[in-house]
Amino acid sequence: MTNDAQNRTQWLGRWGFVLAATGSAVGLGNVWKFPYMTGEYGGGAFVLVYLACILAIGVPVMMTEIALGRRGRGSPIDAIRRVTSESGGTSLWSLLGWMAMLCGFMILCFYVVVAGWSFSYLWKMLTGGLAGSSVDDMAAIFGANNESPFNLGFWSTLVTVATMVIVGKGVQGGIEKSVSWMMPGMVVMLVIMIAYGALSGGFGEALHFLFAFNAGSLSSEGMLAAMGHAFFTLSLASGAILTYGSYLPRNASIGRTTLTVAVADTLVALMAGLAIFPVIFANGMEPGSGPGLIFMSLPLAFQAMPLGTLFGILFFVMLSMAALTSSISMVEATVSWLTDNKGISRRTASWGTGILLWVISTLAMLSFNVGAEWTLAGKHFFGWLDYLTSRWMMPLGGLGMVLLAGFVLKSESLREELGLSPVVHGLWLFMVRYVSPLGILVIFVDALGIAKLQFGSHWPWLLLALVVITLVGELASPRLKRAFGA
Ligand code: PHE
Repeated sequence: MTNDAQNRTQWLGRWGFVLAATGSAVGLGNVWKFPYMTGEYGGGAFVLVYLACILAIGVPVMMTEIALGRRGRGSPIDAIRRVTSESGGTSLWSLLGWMAMLCGFMILCFYVVVAGWSFSYLWKMLTGGLAGSSVDDMAAIFGANNESPFNLGFWSTLVTVATMVIVGKGVQGGIEKSVSWMMPGMVVMLVIMIAYGALSGGFGEALHFLFAFNAGSLSSEGMLAAMGHAFFTLSLASGAILTYGSYLPRNASIGRTTLTVAVADTLVALMAGLAIFPVIFANGMEPGSGPGLIFMSLPLAFQAMPLGTLFGILFFVMLSMAALTSSISMVEATVSWLTDNKGISRRTASWGTGILLWVISTLAMLSFNVGAEWTLAGKHFFGWLDYLTSRWMMPLGGLGMVLLAGFVLKSESLREELGLSPVVHGLWLFMVRYVSPLGILVIFVDALGIAKLQFGSHWPWLLLALVVITLVGELASPRLKRAFGA
């Protein structure tokens, strides 16, 4: 990153932002969370809703966030306030920025625990701690790894410190460059593992599980989870993409950049699914085994395949790096807000944030051992952090952003910022005004049990609703603008 005339850091070169945003998006969400959630929510139907949400909600929201960040040139709070006031809107919209910043921080509090798993499995691979283990041993090893708060705490502390040192020194650029070898490396590794799965059984079953659509297995909870995961995996509504967008040079294309990131991210997730599920089925494991799924299944494959230890080490190195390029993006909003507004240095801001992070993430880490019983409504602290952020805060934040962009901001300001052709701009506007909000609301309404939807039979009604809302919205647009406070 370098300083520009306005004294705000910018990405070095054309690829800087793409690398950083891809680094943020591709992470544990793709390799750890996507497979275990797919397993938990029954496969194909979950995958389909997830893909639909990426397209109909994720891509438009990402474009909006990058545009907001670049136009507002600041942390989510400052950027949204500036952009809204430029269009004469109320400063209350900056609450969206607060929520995004909080959300990124809350995610990081449990993310470092999962990243800690990845580092600890890398260590196990290096020291041969997994050799010769059976299916049952793998579950026991995962359990034992969690049992001691000192062991688990050591790894999550390591990740916390690494993240804050990188952010504090402002050397993310160096780490993000690793994306340029790590991403292709990850893809190659996944291809090898998919090939292994294809040769050693369980592949057909995996394909069927991931891609056979069975509307009956689509629970409301599963749909909410799929939508939340679309936000999570693209790093949306959590400050990361918006803040990175604020460092994006004027001449970069937001549309093309977004597509590159979304395609790469989705590809890695689907490939991870194709690599993991054959192992699950070939070994008679339960797809719904929860958060430990990849740690209990992949080492089995590494054990059986030729050069497995080497591949296992490479795999966990890359997964750990991918986790770091995501974790550094989660605090960027907080650190940039602190340095811009509180007159403190990047280093001080990082250390302050890091200490708070360490305390809360330690509490999250305890959910797997001494704090397993500290539950509320059946969820422990780690579970609550994940649930609140993914299921509610991110979709709500995303909803706020598309409404802001669609109805409050002056159309010229975003038109100028996005620089799309008229047709594509029209499509984007249609998405942020109607498709994305309706999608988010429908899934919320369904999850809250206000109305139960059967997509199989209700989709014509939904389509009709979209048409009617679009027509009404377009007719009432100036009024809506006023209603939303512009
Ligand atoms: N997208 C990241 C992943 O898939 C997680 C993330 C969420 C990163 C929110 C930044 C902000 O692992």
